[in-house]
Amino acid sequence: MAKNIAVIGMQFGDEGKGKIIDFLAEDADVIARFNGGNNAGHTLKVNDKETILHLIPSGILHKGKINIIGNGLVVDPNVLMEEIENLRNNGVKVTPDNLIVSENAHIILEKHIREDKEKNKHLGTTARGIGPAYTDKAARSGVRVIDYINKNKSPLNPFVKNTTLMINSLIDKNKKVLFEGAQGTLLDIDHGTYPYVTSSNATVGGVCTGLGIGPKKVDSVLGVAKAYTSRVGSGPFPTELKDRTGEKIREIGKEFGSTTGRPRRIGWFDALMCKYSGMVNGTDSIVLTKLDVLSGLEQIKICVGYKHNTKIIKDFTTNVGILENSEPVYEELNGWMEDISDVKKFDELPQNAQKYVKRIEELLEVPVCIVSVGPERNQTLILKKEFLFDSKPSK
Ligand code: GDP
Ligand code: IMO
Ligand code: MG
Repeated sequence: MAKNIAVIGMQFGDEGKGKIIDFLAEDADVIARFNGGNNAGHTLKVNDKETILHLIPSGILHKGKINIIGNGLVVDPNVLMEEIENLRNNGVKVTPDNLIVSENAHIILEKHIREDKEKNKHLGTTARGIGPAYTDKAARSGVRVIDYINKNKSPLNPFVKNTTLMINSLIDKNKKVLFEGAQGTLLDIDHGTYPYVTSSNATVGGVCTGLGIGPKKVDSVLGVAKAYTSRVGSGPFPTELKDRTGEKIREIGKEFGSTTGRPRRIGWFDALMCKYSGMVNGTDSIVLTKLDVLSGLEQIKICVGYKHNTKIIKDFTTNVGILENSEPVYEELNGWMEDISDVKKFDELPQNAQKYVKRIEELLEVPVCIVSVGPERNQTLILKKEFLFDSKPSK
């Protein structure tokens, strides 16, 4: 069974990574974020209470876990302090014992936010200063957390440590680590639909650079994919639905950005795209989320190819020109009418829902280990335990 697990978005972000991290965190010791910043919005729902996290790892609601903000992030100190305060006001314990910030993470300054708002409108960014902060980092004109706290009397001070030493030492002690991805593979700066991407590596390589660990420390890669597709902001989206079906899925799936509140663009599941994500991340197994949202549709489509001019493309491409001028080729499956949000076992799902999951598994050639049928922790069906943590506590 897996010891350390990376949780990576397979689409354009908002796949439900937060929910899955919170679910798996029960059996983990450490939850570590490795990329992005407060462009992320990770939603956890426990006993009807919703918590949206932007910077703090999604393990924070569990007692006795270590949550790490790695060197690969860009941190807005005001947002972080606000998030800590909010959690505390809701009775969640957040102290330098359970939240640690890397001294090598970079700081988002006021000017970065201003620049993001002014210059990056056409990209539909979250306007949180993420891109400009990473740009300064690459230009060697950025500010590391350690330098920031040395110069400013920041309330951040007690949370800051050398997280590289810390996480490696925890791994050496056989602690079970969850690596929490933000964004998704198609938003990755290298592997996404450039320039309509974020400015960090949301793919599995980011785990190593964003935390300072060797690749062999990642024992299992879970790819989180929604049972359909959503995208916030600009950029190509071959399976986008601009009709009533898209609106219906948006309403039922409550697809409005958890960071900016923008309506998310909706489309059918794209098997080409997810097969590509599976390859780029070496995905061992898939977590399929929001299957419940598709209940009540007569027919459900899966994209299995793109028609570009007269050619049928079977391999995904990140070439924006091709994506923008491609017609999806669909396979149609029969839907199901039943509400599945209370189902507790995979084989209790309607036959057509099971067939849908099986077909995705076949197309991606990667097994599905979890199916999620609602936002709550307990709306999670486990299909294959071998890709998950051993539930015994670590030594
Ligand atoms: P993340 O960025 O990948 O963590 O995803 P977000 O939290 O931004 O968006 C996922 C949304 O879907 C949140 O509102 C979750 O509460 C919700 N959600 C997660 N899994 C499920 C599911 O299986 N069914 C339904 N209906 N909602 C889900
Ligand atoms: P989580 O972790 C969805 C999108 C923005 C924009 C593009 C670039 O919740 O899945 P940025 O501010 O990063 O420079 O914006 O990326 N984006 C996300 N979309 N979920 C996210 O994070 C996102 N983080 C950034 O909407 O299109
Ligand atoms: Mg999100």
